Amino acid sequence: MTDREEILRTPRLRLTTWLPSDLDDLAALHADVEVMRHMTTGPQTRAATRERLETFIDEHRQRDWSKWRVEGASGFLGRAGFGLAHGSGHREVGYLLVRAAWGAGLATELTRALRQWHDDHPEPALAPELRAYVLPGNEASCRVLEKAGFRAVGEEDGQLVFESGRP
Ligand SMILES: CC(C)(COP(=O)(O)OP(=O)(O)OC[C@H]1O[C@@H](n2cnc3c(N)ncnc32)[C@H](O)[C@@H]1OP(=O)(O)O)[C@@H](O)C(=O)NCCC(=O)NCCS
Repeated sequence: MTDREEILRTPRLRLTTWLPSDLDDLAALHADVEVMRHMTTGPQTRAATRERLETFIDEHRQRDWSKWRVEGASGFLGRAGFGLAHGSGHREVGYLLVRAAWGAGLATELTRALRQWHDDHPEPALAPELRAYVLPGNEASCRVLEKAGFRAVGEEDGQLVFESGRP
């Protein structure tokens, strides 16, 4: 496995599949306390990140969607894409960017593009709405979702639940 598959492009970003050699970049992102402050897992070890990376690669191979690698003109910028919301039958969007990239509208650009990707790639077995789960206090993520056209629909297991409208 030596080639990345391109999933989508935005004016400033490119989303691709992963290579095993991305472990250093992803492990550094997952070890950053600030980046992981509002994630339910908290900072992750290199061993845990290796498992996550293998899962991302396997999930994409099996169903064509997972969490993907984000890059900008300067190289690696983070990860973004989809998971399966626990028990609800919805796709769930998620995004994490390196700190140096924050505050420039990139997560909003990405989330709008992922929302479009979701609408363009429906899965009949899943609910049509795209969801996002956010820990209370993650104001930046709530704002990203608001700007990308999501609305708050409730709370589940201590997390705020957001949904995109039907396509
Ligand atoms: C959340 C995250 C993806 C946002 O990325 P970003 O590229 O900086 O987001 P954007 O620039 O597109 O938009 C951020 C918005 O939140 C606002 N914001 C940032 N920090 C804020 C805060 N503490 N309180 C209120 N609003 C805040 C910004 O002003 C901006 O809104 P505006 O355009 O109206 O000014 C980034 O901070 C990150 O990776 N965080 C760690 C991982 C994470 O929390 N992921 C989400 C899990 S649900």
